[in-house]
Amino acid sequence: MSNLAILISGRGSNLGAIVRAIDEGRLRARIAVVISNRSDASGLELARARGIPTAVLPHRDYESRQAFDAALVATLRSHDVRLVCLAGFMRQIGPTFCDAFPMAILNIHPSLLPAFPGLDAQRVALEHGAKVTGATVHFVTPELDAGPIVMQTAVPVEEGDTVESLSARILVQEHRLYPEAIRRVLEDEWRIVGRRVVFGPAPARV
Ligand code: GRF
Repeated sequence: MSNLAILISGRGSNLGAIVRAIDEGRLRARIAVVISNRSDASGLELARARGIPTAVLPHRDYESRQAFDAALVATLRSHDVRLVCLAGFMRQIGPTFCDAFPMAILNIHPSLLPAFPGLDAQRVALEHGAKVTGATVHFVTPELDAGPIVMQTAVPVEEGDTVESLSARILVQEHRLYPEAIRRVLEDEWRIVGRRVVFGPAPARV
């Protein structure tokens, strides 16, 4: 059983979706720890109610991003974590963290990357006039929202959509996509070719 860590900063609905997938047997994994950089993240309550260990590491307590990253890595190591899942974690992570978990950190982003990286992706897509947006699960590298893409799902933008209505429809898809992407990363064969995540057995060497 693989140990996951879920890193959150807010409500934790993707955390909830991962918990449900485990409960329903769609994902064979164990959440070893939920970590938040904010003590008021409501997702922490969800974790505590389930008896999942939690840790709060307020980023302001650290003198640099590197020191914050090092504290995160130490916490993750103490829980023997194999795969780190960022789920609404609102801090960019640096090389110290990425190097400690190479191709073992996932993030979910509410757009079809590389379109609309960064904050407020649903609002930016709407304002841009995109007809289709969606959600992306990708590996995390130090460059924001730019690591190799694991899975994506498209969500059409409807006439009359507001940021709220569009975000809500994307979120439904996020909750389906993230547990499935975690399952594939844990259970399927895959490799990185260039910047592509290629699923399936590696070609035989001659
Ligand atoms: C989601 O929209 C996710 O794509 C983005 O932050 C939001 C987190 O929501 N990275 P929640 O905390 O999982 O409800």
